[in-house]
Amino acid sequence: MAAFRVLAAVLSVCCVCVLVEGKFMVYNTSGGAVSGKLNVHLVAHTHDDVGWLKTVDQYYVGSNNSIQGACVQNVLDSLIPALLADKNRKFIYVEQAFFQRWWREQSDLVKKTVKKLVSSGQLEFINGGMCMHDEAATHYIDMIDQTTLGHWYIKRDFNVTPRIGWQIDPFGHSAVQAYLLGAEVGFDALYFARIDYQDRAKRSGDKKLEVIWQGSKSRGSSSQIFADAFYAGNYEPPTGFYYEVNDDSPVVQDDMDLFDYNVQERVNAFVAAAINQANVTRSNHVMWTMGTDFKYQYAHTWFRNMDKLIHYVNQDGRVNAFYSTPSIYTDAKYALDESWPLKSDDYFPNVIKLCIRYADRINAYWTGYFTSRPAIKGYVRVLSGYYLAARQLEFFRGRNKSGPTTDSLADAMAIAQHHDAVTGTEKQHVANDYAKRLSIGYEECPLLNISYCPATEVDLSVGKKLAVLVYNPLGWKRTAVVRIPVISENLIVSDYTGKVILSQLLPIVNASISKRKFHASAYTGGSPSSTPKYWLAFTAAVPPLGFSTYVISSGQSSASTKLIPKTFDGSQTGGIEVGPGSLKLIYSGTDGKLTRYINGKNSVNISLDQSYSYYVGSTDELQASGAYVFRPNGTYPIQSGEKTPLTVFRGPLYDEVHQTINPWIYQITRVYKDKEHAEVEFTVGPIPIDDGNGKEIVTQIKTKIGNNKTFYTDSNGRDFLERIRDYRTDWDLQVNQPIAGNYYPINLGIYLKDKSTEMSVLVDRSVGGSSIVDGEVEIMLHRRLLHDDGRGVDEALNETVCALDTCSGLTVQGNYYLRFDPLGEGSKWRRSFGQEIYSPFLLAFSEQDDKWTNFPTPTFSAMDPSYSLPDNIAILTLQELEDGAVLLRLAHLYEVGEDKDLSSLATVELKKVFSNRKINKIKEMSLSANQERSEMERKRLSWKVEGSSTKPATDSRGGPVDPVKLVVELAPMELRTFILDFSSNLVQY
Ligand SMILES: *[C@@H]1O[C@H](CO)[C@@H](O)[C@H](O)[C@H]1NC(C)=O
Ligand SMILES: *[C@@H]1O[C@H](CO)[C@@H](O)[C@H](O)[C@H]1NC(C)=O
Repeated sequence: MAAFRVLAAVLSVCCVCVLVEGKFMVYNTSGGAVSGKLNVHLVAHTHDDVGWLKTVDQYYVGSNNSIQGACVQNVLDSLIPALLADKNRKFIYVEQAFFQRWWREQSDLVKKTVKKLVSSGQLEFINGGMCMHDEAATHYIDMIDQTTLGHWYIKRDFNVTPRIGWQIDPFGHSAVQAYLLGAEVGFDALYFARIDYQDRAKRSGDKKLEVIWQGSKSRGSSSQIFADAFYAGNYEPPTGFYYEVNDDSPVVQDDMDLFDYNVQERVNAFVAAAINQANVTRSNHVMWTMGTDFKYQYAHTWFRNMDKLIHYVNQDGRVNAFYSTPSIYTDAKYALDESWPLKSDDYFPNVIKLCIRYADRINAYWTGYFTSRPAIKGYVRVLSGYYLAARQLEFFRGRNKSGPTTDSLADAMAIAQHHDAVTGTEKQHVANDYAKRLSIGYEECPLLNISYCPATEVDLSVGKKLAVLVYNPLGWKRTAVVRIPVISENLIVSDYTGKVILSQLLPIVNASISKRKFHASAYTGGSPSSTPKYWLAFTAAVPPLGFSTYVISSGQSSASTKLIPKTFDGSQTGGIEVGPGSLKLIYSGTDGKLTRYINGKNSVNISLDQSYSYYVGSTDELQASGAYVFRPNGTYPIQSGEKTPLTVFRGPLYDEVHQTINPWIYQITRVYKDKEHAEVEFTVGPIPIDDGNGKEIVTQIKTKIGNNKTFYTDSNGRDFLERIRDYRTDWDLQVNQPIAGNYYPINLGIYLKDKSTEMSVLVDRSVGGSSIVDGEVEIMLHRRLLHDDGRGVDEALNETVCALDTCSGLTVQGNYYLRFDPLGEGSKWRRSFGQEIYSPFLLAFSEQDDKWTNFPTPTFSAMDPSYSLPDNIAILTLQELEDGAVLLRLAHLYEVGEDKDLSSLATVELKKVFSNRKINKIKEMSLSANQERSEMERKRLSWKVEGSSTKPATDSRGGPVDPVKLVVELAPMELRTFILDFSSNLVQY
């Protein structure tokens, strides 16, 4: 159908010929920029959310229109004939998830036509990822992966590389977006709409909406980008210039024989709007974003009106209008050869001011979505690490054309990065759709977090053994504790040489068993057939990019230490010390609270307090707290009662402290013998709402650290940015939301410091957090709210789980990790252990009979046995591509000056990383691997920054890679992307 319509249009329309009462009217749309005039660049665009109120597929096919009349197929179908009708018309398209759905269905003829439109520049792909990813709740590796996938499709189908970043809808903008997903993918500019209204007002007045953004202190001017925050704070046309068929803007009526002729009035309105915008914009070029969400379902109506505007406005002559694209606009700005103001850091948090009725003091901070839908956020992060490891394994085994491959997971992960997916700002049925797509690509024990893993719950007393293969996706050797639920008790764990190793059995507490029953039946539809009794734990030591096998068998008596719980009821005098190694946590014997953290190894001895509290979400009809917005109305400490009983399990590998904080918060703190951090597993929910209040649950860690309002949070898991409470670098902040306005997104961690000590908290998913009071870190763990916050989703964020005809509020379980260090020593842990959180061991199980002795390959490492990556380098991508070439990304993990030893140039010996294969050819690529890096650098626009000498971008980078030596150098925070060709005669592993 689509193909037929396109063809018909090609045949019937010759040029822009419009029949008016028997005479042809030819609109002159041929202009370009004119010097000396105010140039209005009309950028025709549609913004197509890859899921929000409807699922991605519903948006594509145009179903479920009672929710939202939106059909992306209509947009693309009607666009092509509209562009063919006039070669001056231009359009940009962004979301490859939709474009690829459409492209697959097109005939060869249509494909040929579209290719011509792309090569002539009439249709331009910008941004070019599968979706327009979020910038707060996303991890940088996921942002890179989803962008790479989209760029790869564009390269394959059109042989072009997008030039422009177009993040018009996300709710705040990250430093990583600017320097990695902007400059390092070869973009020449980055456009977006949503920034703090106070920032916007200041920038408008100073004509500083357009800046040169240096997103990374370490990368400096070598990774800077031209960045433009749209003057109106949205990505729509100026008021009165909307032309979807049912929009109420006045169409341009230029037929004098009909009533309501309005050409002069429309031209005047156009000129006024252009001058208004020029007043806050440097130079005589302004951009009009002609489109918005899901527009151009009937593209002709937009283009017909724009044709007329261009014709009559240029005839009028006060300003000059023409069809443009962000690339043309960027080139026009660049050609001015001016210096631009410098911007560093990021654009978080974002706030809007509501001027409804008399309440113009209402500030709505978009900081709730940093935590909204914490279960989906956790799931996305788990699968991110899994996807990284799965691609490594796929590479070792060799990509299998007939499948299974990691492709469906790649697609599901890409879509989940959309700014209404991992953000938690979609409708519930859409959230379910994302989760379903993710689950299709995931194989490991998905319910291990609720101690449900049928593969390990086998009866080993009847002559069976369980082999556990432990895979380490990191480039370093790693030693860490593995925990699995088991049903047998007399267990022996041995390594692949047959040597019995230390292990411990920790009884699974009743609270976990009932959670397990409920959730296992909610997710599998039936009750689990067995009930595990213990968590079996042992320490696995695994080589880099490799695995080790462990064998679990049963014996007469257990070689594994059975842990006996000891409960303290609060009548103990003195403290209760926990921890089998150098780290000791001291709990109060009278109220069971954590009071002290002592690490004998680095002489940290600090008093602290850890607690929970909740905010009541504002229910104000003008601005409630909801999926996007955090608007607290009162904070309430969660009292654990006078005497909280404390149950302690002490074992040779780690101790566990169990605390029932209240009927819906359970906390387990683990202190490992060989680790110097505390691991806190929280289980929060169902959050009660019977008092009619929505609640946002936070945990606080209070110390006496004098951090003087200053704390640090990461940008998408990469660079740490300095945050100062109630302060913004770029303008004088009017503080009106002292809590919500100090919240920042956290993906790796948050830390604060004084003259002697650093406190770091690392997280296992995206959360919001802050330091609201000196010495204190606060992170938001869960939110359940009863009112919609009026940003369009039109649903309260009230997640429930249903099983066996009962529904209850969603329970969330996760971990955070706490460590104190002497000043200047915290980054080693944050960076190295941060990689371990992101890339946990991957476990595989196989049941064997008693006589079985061992696998032929019980242990393996892809690397030379004498080699390991330097402590400051991580492998971000190791992936075999469809054509057999291999994509490799290496990242330096430290910023300039972050660590006294590790913030230095590092080297990687590729011959030793791939010790069993021969590298024939190596090509350095742009970050999204769609062009060679040298080509990207050659094309890169070199912008001038105000106030700085025109020094060229010479910030340190590793040198070129010698194809014989194959040694890669990386400077601090540098990320390098390569395509490798290996010899075809594979060495078999
Ligand atoms: C131009 O901008 C300034 C500063 O924002 C403002 O005061 C003034 O009213 C604006 N003028 C016009 C014509 O919009
Ligand atoms: C805050 O809570 C109080 C009741 O505790 C209520 O009267 C008031 O309307 C709430 N304000 C907002 C903005 O929700």
